Amino acid sequence: MNAQENLAAAGPLFVHALRVVTENAARASYDWIGRGERGQSGKAAITAMRGVLDNLPISGVVIVGEGADGNGEGVEAGTKIGAGGREFDVAVDPVEGISYLARGMTNAMAVIALCPRGTMFEPGPAFYMEKFVAPPAAKGKIDPRQPVEVKLNLLSQILDKPVAELTVFVLEKPRHRELVERIHKAGARVALYPAGDVAGALMAAIPSSGIDALMGTGGVGEGLISACAIRALGGEFLARLDPQLATEKAQVAKNGMDTHQWRQVEDLVKSDQVYFCATGITTGLLFEGIERTDDFEKTQSLLISGPAGERQILTTFHNRGQPA
Ligand code: FBP
Repeated sequence: MNAQENLAAAGPLFVHALRVVTENAARASYDWIGRGERGQSGKAAITAMRGVLDNLPISGVVIVGEGADGNGEGVEAGTKIGAGGREFDVAVDPVEGISYLARGMTNAMAVIALCPRGTMFEPGPAFYMEKFVAPPAAKGKIDPRQPVEVKLNLLSQILDKPVAELTVFVLEKPRHRELVERIHKAGARVALYPAGDVAGALMAAIPSSGIDALMGTGGVGEGLISACAIRALGGEFLARLDPQLATEKAQVAKNGMDTHQWRQVEDLVKSDQVYFCATGITTGLLFEGIERTDDFEKTQSLLISGPAGERQILTTFHNRGQPA
């Protein structure tokens, strides 16, 4: 693939096939919004996504996947997918922000990200990573090892915005208590979300989204999915493995994985020929969730491709009862 090939050049069929993957998962989980139920919604979304992954015109290997709870086929890491074609590494999350979905809150989405085979970081047993995300203007200008106060001052200079006007997305977790206190003390705002750092990372990398940076520790899988999109968008995405559980720490150490090394987005996704597609389940700040009437289901999907960083939001009206 040459540098000119982006979403449009990849062809409408490819774009459509990607969108069908996330639309299917999103539509399958609609019935579970706000029912306090994670397991069933996850299972419905995984099954629906799994059912169409082999229609993708690629030869894909899942690097970041989702196991099936109990019966049913999952989309585990190592699964081969696609109908054949160019070789890709694939990361999926049938429901990113499943706790949002269960609680009927905003920002749940179904998502897939692709980069050429062999170019996605292999997470192995690592489950958590610390992330620093910022808009393209900050790329290469902020050392993530610096204290949070220094990072905020630098960001304020780069974005030409007083620290008091900066908003940092942080997952609302006990591990981030000190981080939040320090951001507040430095004078910046914190947007505290209980889940969903893919949406947070995208917002942090998109100028004027209302979020200026993302800080803190979240999932490695979600990090790699975000990294594909941010590689295309030209934003800053830096990450360091940050195991949280004793078992994860031991496995990461056993595999010789360095938890001090900050990796750049180019280390996590080694090609700029990336594709990202997400469909809203519940409405978020970037795109809308599913709307259902007697006749149709409306979905909104965000597509991002590299290297140009082209972004599309596609609204689709599906006839009820018809497959995507
Ligand atoms: P859910 O899908 O379980 O709601 O959570 C997704 C998520 O919030 C990701 O966005 C984030 O990277 C990760 O979980 C953080 O994990 P944890 O909730 O275990 O701290």
